[in-house]
Amino acid sequence: MKLFGKEMNFFKKKQEEDKKRAAVLGRFLDFASKEAYNLLRTNILFSIADKQGKGKVIGITSSIPHEGKSYTAINLAYSLAKEGHKTLLISADMRKPSIENTIGIKPKFGLSSILVGEEGDAVIPSGLHDNLMLLPAGIIPPNPSELLGTERMKDLLDKCAEEYPYVIVDLPPVNVVADALVVSKFLDGIVVIVRHGMTRRKELVEAIKKLKYVQAHILGIVYNGYNHGRGKNYKGSYYKKYGYKKHYSSYYYKDSKENKNKENK
Ligand SMILES: Nc1ncnc2c1ncn2[C@@H]1O[C@H](COP(=O)(O)OP(=O)(O)OP(=O)(O)O)[C@@H](O)[C@H]1O
Ligand SMILES: [Mg+2]
Repeated sequence: MKLFGKEMNFFKKKQEEDKKRAAVLGRFLDFASKEAYNLLRTNILFSIADKQGKGKVIGITSSIPHEGKSYTAINLAYSLAKEGHKTLLISADMRKPSIENTIGIKPKFGLSSILVGEEGDAVIPSGLHDNLMLLPAGIIPPNPSELLGTERMKDLLDKCAEEYPYVIVDLPPVNVVADALVVSKFLDGIVVIVRHGMTRRKELVEAIKKLKYVQAHILGIVYNGYNHGRGKNYKGSYYKKYGYKKHYSSYYYKDSKENKNKENK
């Protein structure tokens, strides 16, 4: 069968999407990466004290965009689910709900709907593992930071922790918007991602300072994207590929500018 024009493009696009999805889903990871996520899972299990029957709520953030927060959140959640733990993954980067893009869904009802007071159950199966459920971000609200800092968010996380032994919360970067900082007070701990060849020391220091200022419980730092196979002199292609300035000029930039203006007033 020959494929022409439109059909060819459709199949090519689908193939690319499948490839992209497969690359980030736990079960398709290579052995070293799987082991790294298992180790992260174990470290997290031991770094938060037992909450007497209540689940552990863990946030994932980083200093700047594109360091692999959502990627880590999915794989960590998958690793927990695979070990038999009922796990809830919350797509709390409402400005850029990339978990939904990775999984290939676009639900309109989600975290933002619950936080503005809409009734209903927004939790859906992730489709990745029977033990892994997803609370999608929902429609992008105009004021994510304000919503995430409310009592409603606290109550929601409390409720989730009653039902799930592990709740993984995917958050935006700390140096760009306030979301992760405002929600950190409701979390049992937060993991900070740095990416090989991308994160600069200055940015990491700034992010840690901000998290410490709001008294977040920093569980540790994940060094993402290092390719062991390339030796210690490997400089990393990500830096070139994902120009760092380019990310700052992405959708987050507008918010960070607005925040700075607010701070200066
Ligand atoms: N260790 C890794 N190996 C391969 N690809 C990765 C790795 N970490 C992240 N990526 C890819 O890099 C891109 C950015 O990752 P991701 O979306 O997880 O970053 P993020 O920090 O959540 O970004 P944002 O701040 O925009 O939400 C994605 O295409 C993801 O699949
Ligand atoms: Mg993300």
